[in-house]
Amino acid sequence: MNSFLVGGMAAFFSSFLYPIIKFLFPPVIEPDKVTLEYTDYNDMSPYTTQMFAWGNKPGILVKKAGGYHAFIAVCTHLDCNVSFMPEKRMFYCACHDGWYDENGVNIAGPPPSPLKKLDVELDGENLIIFKKGGKNETRKT
Ligand code: FES
Repeated sequence: MNSFLVGGMAAFFSSFLYPIIKFLFPPVIEPDKVTLEYTDYNDMSPYTTQMFAWGNKPGILVKKAGGYHAFIAVCTHLDCNVSFMPEKRMFYCACHDGWYDENGVNIAGPPPSPLKKLDVELDGENLIIFKKGGKNETRKT
């Protein structure tokens, strides 16, 4: 009788805990590539940015004189979102005053490593953003 009661209570509490744990620790969904319509991005001025969805994370596209550069806009310290400061040409994380240069390299504050960089390719009417080194993997299939 006791094991039946304990089992029922465990099932009851786990039905509450599971969604809470899923909310607090969502699964990481990282795509191999994302395709964006180039018409939405072709009029960007140098050192302006636009956000895009990289799975369930924010991506940031930076237009520079030489073309487009893309990064996952998540700080490598404690996963806060970063933003680009065009006047300083740096990425900034407001959570703990973390700074990255325009190439995503961590230069000040607590971030332990560079921002995760993505590959960008213009393919006709599409701007295709690949996981770093994932361009060839995607084309194989
Ligand atoms: S989370 Fe970005 S500096 Fe701490």
